[in-house]
Formats: sequence, C-alpha cells, structure tokens
Amino acid sequence: MALPKIISNAAYSTYESQLEKEVLAGPVPGHLAIIMDGNRRYAKEVLQAEPREGHIMGRAKLEEVLGWCMDTGIKVLTVYAFSTENFNRDQEEVSFLMDLISQALRDFADDPRVHENRVRVGVLGDPSMLPESMLEAISYADERTSGYSDHHLNMAVAYGGRQEIVTAVKEIARKVKEGAMDVEDITEGTLSGHMYMSSMPDPDLVLRTSGEVRISNFLLWQMAYSELYFTDVYWPGFRYIDFLRSIRAYQQRSRRYGT
Ligand code: FPP
Repeated sequence: MALPKIISNAAYSTYESQLEKEVLAGPVPGHLAIIMDGNRRYAKEVLQAEPREGHIMGRAKLEEVLGWCMDTGIKVLTVYAFSTENFNRDQEEVSFLMDLISQALRDFADDPRVHENRVRVGVLGDPSMLPESMLEAISYADERTSGYSDHHLNMAVAYGGRQEIVTAVKEIARKVKEGAMDVEDITEGTLSGHMYMSSMPDPDLVLRTSGEVRISNFLLWQMAYSELYFTDVYWPGFRYIDFLRSIRAYQQRSRRYGT
C-alpha cells in the first residue's frame, strides 16, 4: 500500500536533511562538470509540452544548481550548454537555444548572488561558430565578473572536446614552427595550458543526467582522472537530493590516479 503523500513527503525531507548533513561533513568536489541532458524528453514525457518548455526549465535548473554549488562549497561548475553537434538540430531550436543561453549569461551577470559570491561567469567553445548576440552576451558577462575568482561558472557553448584538442595542437604547432617552442619540451602540461579553461583545475566529478551513459565529446582531455556519475533523472527534474547523492557517491570513491 502506498504511503499517504503527507507522510512520504515528511520521510523524504528527513532523508534529505540527513543526507545533506552527511555530505557536508565530507570533502566536496572542487570542480563539478555537468552534462545537462534530457530537456526534450522531460518536456514530452512529464510536461506533455513542446521541447522549448524543457529547455526553459533546464535553464531555471541551472540557476538552482549554481546555488547548491555555492552553498556546499563547490568552487567551479562547468556545464555543457551547447555542443558543436547541437548545431545540426533544426534551425528554430538552435536559435531558441542561442537566445536562451545568451539571456541566461546576461541574467547571471546581473544576479546579486553572483556578485555576493564573486562568481566569474565565462564561456568555453569556438567563438567563430556563435552569433553576434551571443558574443555580446559573453563580453557582457566577462566585463561584469572578470574581477572575480572565488567561484567559477563555465558554460560550454559551441563546444567539442576533440575540436578543443585540435585547436590546442594547432596553436602549439604554430609556436614550434615559429621557433618559440621545442618539440621535445611539449608535455601534458603544455597541452593543458592550451585548453580553453587552462587556468582551472580538471573536473573532480562529471555528472550526466537522463540515463545516457556516455561522455558525448565533453572535456575529453580534462576528465582523464575525473570520477563519473550517471543518474536517470532528466535535467529539469534533477532535485537537491539527486545532487547530494552524486556528491555522496564521489565521497565514497577511492581516487588512486592509476597508482
Ligand atoms: C540536452 O537535452 C540539453 C541541451 C542540448 C541543451 C542544454 C540547455 C539547457 C540546459 C537549457 C539552457 C541552458 C543554459 C545554459 C542557460 P536535450 O535537448 O538533448 O534533450 P533530450 O536528451 O531529451 O533530447
């Protein structure tokens, strides 16, 4: 027999508080990266609505999750907002997402929580693929938050992991050709130093929502030793309890870096 809703809600909230206490007592990831997947399926299956409704809720979820990260002490949050492959979706959806992400960047840059917590808001990806309106939003966020470094919100837009590596290799090859660098001096650190987020630590935890168990060309270089966590919930339905569970799973892992 199912428990009456009022009892199951109370039990849920007790469980959430216990889990929160447990998680806050342990080490949290310094850098959390998220593949925010499942917006369209959420729109279709849960809302019985158009895909864009799922994206709108997905955007709101990101605002919520940024708050959870700041409250739990996660310093860097990197999210996969739009991949290079996403440009192959129908034009209407692409422009809708470009507008949604541009507006989100501007809103983050104006958000009092971002200023109170000194969050630097930035974008990683190939700027040559982006419309002017997005480039303006990126500059706006940069101007308003470039003085901050307590927290970071990085949005991957027009991003592809292989493309990022190719861009880095080309830049290094150019330096070698110009005589500014010797081939023998190229190390892993050289490659890391030529990635879009070269000043950030690698992600400690990479989380993907929606039940898909793959990496989809996200942060290929940087996630060599990241812990991976997959959850079945769609991104707009991702709850605080799911967030806490992902961190608890991270705390239970033993990170040996191959040793
Ligand atoms: C994956 O769900 C999500 C995207 C391709 C875009 C991510 C965008 C958002 C979370 C909303 C806007 C966000 C920002 C950063 C402000 P999907 O569309 O592939 O859904 P599906 O897997 O169910 O098809």
